[in-house]
Amino acid sequence: MVTGDGTVLGEAIAKQDEIHAKWGGVVPNLAREAHEDAIDSVVSQALANAGVDAKDLSAVAVTVGPGLSMCLRVGVVKAQQVCQENDIPIIPVHHMEAHALVARVRGEEEDSEDDSETSSSAPVSPTIAPFPFLALLVSGGHNQLLVARSVGEYTILGSALDDALGEAYDKTARLLGLDVGGGGGPALESLATNGDPKSYRFPVPLRKRKDCDFSYAGLKTAVRLAIERDLGKDSSDAFTKVQGGGETDEDDSSQESSEDTLYSPEEQTRRNQIKANIAASFQFAAIAHLEERTRRAVGWARETLMEPGNGANSQTEDEVDLTCIVVAGGVAANATVRERLLQVANEFNLPLITPQPKWCTDNGVMVAWAGLERFRLGLAEEAPTAAQIQEPKASDDDDTDRVPRRDVPLLPRWPLGVKDIRATGDVKSSKTARVAPPLQGVKR
Ligand code: KG4
Ligand code: ZN
Repeated sequence: MVTGDGTVLGEAIAKQDEIHAKWGGVVPNLAREAHEDAIDSVVSQALANAGVDAKDLSAVAVTVGPGLSMCLRVGVVKAQQVCQENDIPIIPVHHMEAHALVARVRGEEEDSEDDSETSSSAPVSPTIAPFPFLALLVSGGHNQLLVARSVGEYTILGSALDDALGEAYDKTARLLGLDVGGGGGPALESLATNGDPKSYRFPVPLRKRKDCDFSYAGLKTAVRLAIERDLGKDSSDAFTKVQGGGETDEDDSSQESSEDTLYSPEEQTRRNQIKANIAASFQFAAIAHLEERTRRAVGWARETLMEPGNGANSQTEDEVDLTCIVVAGGVAANATVRERLLQVANEFNLPLITPQPKWCTDNGVMVAWAGLERFRLGLAEEAPTAAQIQEPKASDDDDTDRVPRRDVPLLPRWPLGVKDIRATGDVKSSKTARVAPPLQGVKR
């Protein structure tokens, strides 16, 4: 729940990390069920925390893409229902735009522990990120560098050619047999604090390619080979069994085997150190790739903004240099990512703006805020009529009918902007799927 001046009145969140941990990744049907189970209570909680009645809302913002249709649909159906009941507009939001724009929310002060930015000699950060800015968006599904000119106007300088960094964190955490119930990224980050980042020399990806694209598949393979060599092929299995994941019967305690029972305390200590070293070294190379791409992207962005007619939006036409670098998305919650990108921003004398960690990982505030920014520009739709929203169909035998198939405007494939001419790399998803028009220019 956010007001026009960026005050966050209240928020609520439901997480599914434990479900993903149990099954070794996102299982679409289970993810959808978890959304269905949580949607009503999380909306009521957000309203209650804000002390706001639904009838006092001005509009509801909802993510319509990109993402898994069956999960997106749960949110859209709920949003339509609230909008119809209260006769208020609905604002369709792009998930990655929300990640970028939450950097413009003032929010409350961060705890000083989290506030690594202020402890350095960086230029003083503006409280919000004015346009135009360079955004590095790093999440589980996306790795992107883009120039943000104004709301809905983005030029993509580089994208993931294969795995995004969040996915690489998650897979590496599982290969190392970590407890990923609180998320693979945080588990790996925490382990890495005990390791030596220079102990393994993992290759920094795409060193020879002088563009802004990303690739983490090769690094992931290098890490897997190191794990197999130094810890054995089964290193990731022990923990999975303890968690009752995959096909294992949760109640069968005879299945339980962990490193505790397999190895002596000394051997366990040795193995834990290897794991920490691998985690730290993975993180070192992974972030070096982000640094390298971001450095190049600053140059590309500045060149782009210098071109006539390519500056910021009309209100800020005279402002043609970058105002700051924004790093957002789930991986931006990582303290080492924040620290090292701050150094890069310092090199260019640009402020670094990172949303507070809880607003880097997926959250409702970012969607509400992105909605508000679009609402101000008139990019909202009228409340749906009752006739447009059919009653749910109860069905016992077909799971796919548990969420009514209403005519919802989902955009599961939806580029955030147009690609810069220098960004020649193919984006994996655009080859295989029908792609909705870029956000840029989409007026509903
Ligand atoms: O943005 P997000 O919450 O969801 C997507 O849109 O994908 O990002 C989730 C990703 C996950 O892969 C998660 O492991 C990663 O962000 N992540 C982290 C950290 N916290 C979340 N990666 C590294 N360090 C963290 N502290
Ligand atoms: Zn996200």
